[in-house]
Amino acid sequence: MRIIVTGGAGFIGSVMVQYLVNTYPEDTIINLDKLTYAGNLENLKPIEDKANYKFIRGDIADRKFVFDLFEQENPDCVINFAAETHVDRSVKNPEDFVRTNVMGTTTLLDACKEFSTPRYHQVSTDEVYGDLPLDRPDLFFTENTPLHASSPYSASKASADMFVQAYHRTFGLPVTISRCSNNYGQYQFPEKLIPLMISRALNDQELPVYGTGTNVRDWLHVEDHCKAIDLIVRNGKIGDVYNIGGHNERTNLDVVKTILETLGKPETLIKYVKDRPGHDRRYAIDPEKLEKELGWVPTYNFDTGIRQTIQWYLDNQDWMQHILSGDYQTYFKDMYKDRVQ
Ligand code: NAD
Ligand code: DAU
Repeated sequence: MRIIVTGGAGFIGSVMVQYLVNTYPEDTIINLDKLTYAGNLENLKPIEDKANYKFIRGDIADRKFVFDLFEQENPDCVINFAAETHVDRSVKNPEDFVRTNVMGTTTLLDACKEFSTPRYHQVSTDEVYGDLPLDRPDLFFTENTPLHASSPYSASKASADMFVQAYHRTFGLPVTISRCSNNYGQYQFPEKLIPLMISRALNDQELPVYGTGTNVRDWLHVEDHCKAIDLIVRNGKIGDVYNIGGHNERTNLDVVKTILETLGKPETLIKYVKDRPGHDRRYAIDPEKLEKELGWVPTYNFDTGIRQTIQWYLDNQDWMQHILSGDYQTYFKDMYKDRVQ
């Protein structure tokens, strides 16, 4: 197969590209990425010289570029990871999210339609379902939970999902969608909770916990997410949605305390700051369909996965330093300046 992976220089996309390049030497993997602040070619160092790998810089919302690329590469499959992904950035600047997440997705769908691409997979998120109450641990998101987005980010992802489903119904496009819970692991940009807290704790800086720290996220190791997507792309039912998650719910405070304990840093570093506007309370995925239909089983649980992840950041401090020494300091000052109570 010739597979175009979009957003393959980001956190999850780069793990997916590495997985596909190494697992399927007979396939050609074409990584299409705009290299925004979140794209990092260092993530691809382990496979950049492999014969079945190719990187192309470009924008999924640039129609001419995308159509030319499809004509040239004639892909058998497109897996769309490319997106603006940070909820806090979407609160400050929703427009970028509409452009990439909605218009970029419809541009790819139009190209798949034009070139009769045999398979399109949309990498979506559990955030499209909105949130669950904290006092109902019996409730989970299933594939039939109605879409109920809370943030400009999740609204843009829900909108993209609806276009994917509309192109399936109206034009018969062969699509699948996956909706995964929060990922953690190697190569995650330090704007997201876990790498942000690790990098700040390592530098003995305050750890900004939003609100009371009681919001709950359902954590999945990035490699388990990528294996699930591979199964869905190869064996999933056309037109279907698959939820991905491993039943690893933790409060934010639990996660931050685990990081501090593992690094041997004091809890006095925790600083409660102004809450995120519209902050979703709890995410929790029911992955039964994926397990039963496709036999997916996660290999990590959170307690082992988080320790291995912390060790990765300790062993790869150069990777983090390259990010922290760029525009990141300006981002951090701007994003957190109103949060100190
Ligand atoms: P990320 O922010 O780390 O990476 C996004 C990548 O997309 C970057 O390499 C960036 O350069 C690229 N990109 C952005 N705009 C582009 C454009 N217009 N054209 C081409 N490339 C562009 O994101 P991530 O956390 O790896 O998430 C990847 C996908 O998985 C997203 O679609 C996200 O919604 C979804 N997802 C993420 C999580 C999570 O916990 N991180 C969970 C579920 C689903
Ligand atoms: O659920 C899947 C989603 O998970 C993905 O679709 C998104 O792309 C991804 O960013 C993530 O969204 P969250 O908003 O849950 O992730 P984030 O790491 O930004 O925040 C996790 C929790 O930690 C959330 O409740 C907010 C809180 N938080 C976050 C940051 C950055 C803090 O308390 N302090 C912080 O500084």
